[in-house]
Amino acid sequence: MARTIIEPFRIKSVEPIRWTTRTEREELLRQAYYNLFLLPAEDVLIDLLTDSGTGAMSTHQWAAIMEGDESYAGSKSYDHFRDSIQEIFGYRHVIPTHQGRAAERILFSVMCKKGDVVPNNTHFDTTRANVEFTGAEAVDLVIPEGKRPELVHPFKGDMDVDALEALIARVGREKVPLVMLTVTNNSGGGQPVSMANVRLVSAVCRHHRIPLYFDACRFAENAYFIKLREKGYENKTPKQIAQEMFSYGDGCTMSAKKDGMANIGGFLCTNDDMLAQQEKNLLILTEGYPTYGGLAGRDLEAIAVGVQEALEEDYLRYRIASTAYLGNHIAQQGVPIVQPPGGHAVYLDARAFLSHIPLDQFPGAALAAELYLEGGIRSVEIGRLMFGAAAQMDLVRLAIPRRVYTQSHIDYVVEVILEVWKKREKIQGLKLTYEAPFLRHFTARMEPVEQAVLANLVDRE
Ligand SMILES: Cc1ncc(COP(=O)(O)O)c(C=O)c1O
Repeated sequence: MARTIIEPFRIKSVEPIRWTTRTEREELLRQAYYNLFLLPAEDVLIDLLTDSGTGAMSTHQWAAIMEGDESYAGSKSYDHFRDSIQEIFGYRHVIPTHQGRAAERILFSVMCKKGDVVPNNTHFDTTRANVEFTGAEAVDLVIPEGKRPELVHPFKGDMDVDALEALIARVGREKVPLVMLTVTNNSGGGQPVSMANVRLVSAVCRHHRIPLYFDACRFAENAYFIKLREKGYENKTPKQIAQEMFSYGDGCTMSAKKDGMANIGGFLCTNDDMLAQQEKNLLILTEGYPTYGGLAGRDLEAIAVGVQEALEEDYLRYRIASTAYLGNHIAQQGVPIVQPPGGHAVYLDARAFLSHIPLDQFPGAALAAELYLEGGIRSVEIGRLMFGAAAQMDLVRLAIPRRVYTQSHIDYVVEVILEVWKKREKIQGLKLTYEAPFLRHFTARMEPVEQAVLANLVDRE
């Protein structure tokens, strides 16, 4: 049997991408204040900013879209959506939302208040912001191994269960309205959580009568890592593994823009009837009626098909292998990455890559800017710019959109990263010139430090 793992699809429709010159990119970067979020997408050659909502839908999803029932209430597309999700997730209430953060806002508004503490392996930026918006504190409790980029460990997304127990003992059970587990752990390097850890965290939660919720964005990739790496799961299907994982929790938030294989959408699930009622009331206020929740009927159909496709083994084998291909090819040449490569992304360790740049000069943002300059590649900083002083690492995430790029695109990315690695000592740090009060990385403005020093000198003269 041939060993080459190929893309398990044929391409039926193509979208052209555009080359720019280095001189053009220098100007474009200046105009974007060195913040890649502020670049026009058409000036990006390979867009690895995010795997969120950027995937290619299948022929089955497009066909389902034509079946979308756009009725305001009682749409049959909602029934398809709910049935498909319930089959995998198993929760009693399925509440559609326009994307993951809307599910988070509703969940935390209903469950949290000022002074509360929400533990998670690692909160994603919108999750942290939505917890903090209610006045509660978001605490990251990933295992110590998860904070060491170079260390190879099969489940670096696991939660430190002793730290969870200690936190509950210190603040008191009544201050912890819920515990969350993010599968896979995006901000911690796209690393999976083991079933053993899910079971342990669930047991602690049950013991203290604290509900356990999953941030389920990449549940299918997490399930496949369990199949590959955890004893006893080799012969289970990704769907069976996902079903077992969710059975240990009480609900979830989900961005269907990831393992929902859709371009928009999300949902909130719970087994709690009272909470579901409050959540639906809030939903009606800002998102829409509970059978559409801010989505079109056609979006519900795309998600109903997408969550099932995300669990197909051929797809997951290719998905995990292509991410590992990128990570392994650059790591073999000495490029420091979070090891092992994650499910949806490869994370460059910017602190090690640019060890000459002080942390307050944003080595991650500086590296991301350089990758754009060198080869028109867009990535994202996950570090001090995104999380401020709370950042435990400075990473540059190269997130791979689902079913979008082929192996030759990835070979090109490898080549560009290796070029930047060769000239790393010449790369300068960045200085903030504007920041918003929260989620500052989306709109931050920066400039190279040397330029900033010069400008200050001119100001003083
Ligand atoms: C782990 C995690 N949680 C939540 C979200 C928020 O989802 P959305 O972008 O759909 O609001 C994301 C998005 O990237 C994520 O990666």
